[in-house]
Amino acid sequence: MHESTTPTPQMPPTAELTSEHAVIKRVLAVLERLIGRARRGEAFEAESLASAVEFFRLFADACHHAKEEDLLFPVLEARGIPKEGGPIGVMLEEHRQARGYTREMATALEDRDRDREVAEGRFLSAAENYLELLTQHIFKEDNVLFRMGDRVLTGDDQQKLAVGFCDVACRSFDGKTREQLEAIAGELEDRWGS
Ligand SMILES: [Fe+2]
Ligand SMILES: [Fe+2]
Repeated sequence: MHESTTPTPQMPPTAELTSEHAVIKRVLAVLERLIGRARRGEAFEAESLASAVEFFRLFADACHHAKEEDLLFPVLEARGIPKEGGPIGVMLEEHRQARGYTREMATALEDRDRDREVAEGRFLSAAENYLELLTQHIFKEDNVLFRMGDRVLTGDDQQKLAVGFCDVACRSFDGKTREQLEAIAGELEDRWGS
């Protein structure tokens, strides 16, 4: 059983995002393990890798990054944290790069039917780039940007963000609820976690 990270009403917005980072990191750890198996020539676990890509596309790139881009970052900017040439601009650029790697992983999986070796090589390069990018991106948000945010957000900002986050969490992403997406993380970890 995996503990749900479904937000509680008392949870500050940055803490909610950090709890989502923890879920994303669990799937990144699975991705790293599966990359290792493929790189050692053991097996290319296409089915599990496709589940991981679906999780990254919907939970990380769509749900989580939407909360940051559409809700948190504009408030941080309004409270004086710079966007252009500053930490918010860097985070937005990294989200853009992350979505590119996710697309490349998905396309490479589709192309396995045509030229398996080339497609798997493309997948592994994109997956390694994604792993490295997201790992350091999450570290910077948790340890730098969110700490800055906690200092500048007012109580009213926190309340409004909590309501907005709740609204995003209730959407469905390609027909999947947030709970179903978290379940993908749990299934992958049960199968491939240490
Ligand atoms: Fe982010
Ligand atoms: Fe994040």
